[in-house]
Amino acid sequence: MHGFRTVAHTVIGSGASADIASHLTASVRAEVRRVLLVSDAHLLSLGLLRPALDGLAAAGIDVISFTDVVPDPPEQLALDCVALARREKVDAVVAIGGGSSMDLAKVAAVMAYPDCTQSITALYGVDQVDGPRLPLLLAPSTAGTGSEVTPIAIITTGETTKAGIVSPWLYADVALLDPALTTSLPPQVAAVTAIDAMVHAIEAYTSKIKKNPLSDQHALSALTLLSTNILPACKPGPPEQVRENMLLGAMLAGQAFANAPVAAIHALAYPLGGHCHLSHGLSNALMMVPVMRFNLPYCAPLYAELARHLALVPVAADEISAAQALIDYIESTIASLGIEPSLRAHGIEKTFLPTLAGDAMLQTRLLVNNPREVSEQDALALYHEAW
Ligand SMILES: [Fe+2]
Repeated sequence: MHGFRTVAHTVIGSGASADIASHLTASVRAEVRRVLLVSDAHLLSLGLLRPALDGLAAAGIDVISFTDVVPDPPEQLALDCVALARREKVDAVVAIGGGSSMDLAKVAAVMAYPDCTQSITALYGVDQVDGPRLPLLLAPSTAGTGSEVTPIAIITTGETTKAGIVSPWLYADVALLDPALTTSLPPQVAAVTAIDAMVHAIEAYTSKIKKNPLSDQHALSALTLLSTNILPACKPGPPEQVRENMLLGAMLAGQAFANAPVAAIHALAYPLGGHCHLSHGLSNALMMVPVMRFNLPYCAPLYAELARHLALVPVAADEISAAQALIDYIESTIASLGIEPSLRAHGIEKTFLPTLAGDAMLQTRLLVNNPREVSEQDALALYHEAW
């Protein structure tokens, strides 16, 4: 038996962020008077928040802006965001930004709910959120994390450690995809976030325990959109239709892995973010091919299905060569995007690999989903291969 959950209301279209007020009120069927807008200073400086701010003002909604979000947001930043929401007595939360902004907005929507008595540490883990939460709308400014449709928030809890909050309460009321928000995405950021989205789709499709027919269809559709748009999307000034397709692909991949969770690529990527401060997308790009090669003997039929789906091989190709073609395709795509694929090129010392391997083993929430069991020795060998 399988279940599939996702955000109830999705809005897709250029300029949609100007109508946040109507999408939010229609979805939650409640009056909204005072909104917390979670974003970052870069988007603010580019003027990309202006249509949303003007639209909310025109609807008579007060906006309290929190634009201090940084990548890998620390716990204290989340608490600052919550404190602002509480102090200003907001009655809804909106995020326009990358995964970090959307993750903080999820936490703020839960903790700024008037009756919430839980501390942030009480929320960490799976199914620890009591709820309810404030109305929540999430609009991504990158095509990658899929956080707008996942029930997950990742918070940096220490110098090198992160904690996840995983709960159905973190599904937003509205996911809003507006390609106008990705107009100024730098090609290098577009590249690594797009690879993250492809990892989501592939890890969901091969997820060991919760893979299911609906997550499969989302993963397949995601890969179609991502693979046909990724190269033009990562050149300067991509057309609007390409950016919309990438947002849609990333969201579909998010819906896939929200239900069939990601696995060892993410488990081995997280320590690279925690210790070495590589971005989430780049960390995934660096570990993707080594882990796919490692998993190949355990999921060749699934890799072959994906290769055939993407028409990477003739229909008559045998299973092993089709599966290998998928890995080759990913490797060449990463190269075409100009991503330097070795850990050492990103400043990681060889002597540090055992620390990374030890840390990766702590990601039990993710490793359990991998089609092949990963020992600490395996993890170390994978880091050496990636080095
Ligand atoms: Fe990811």
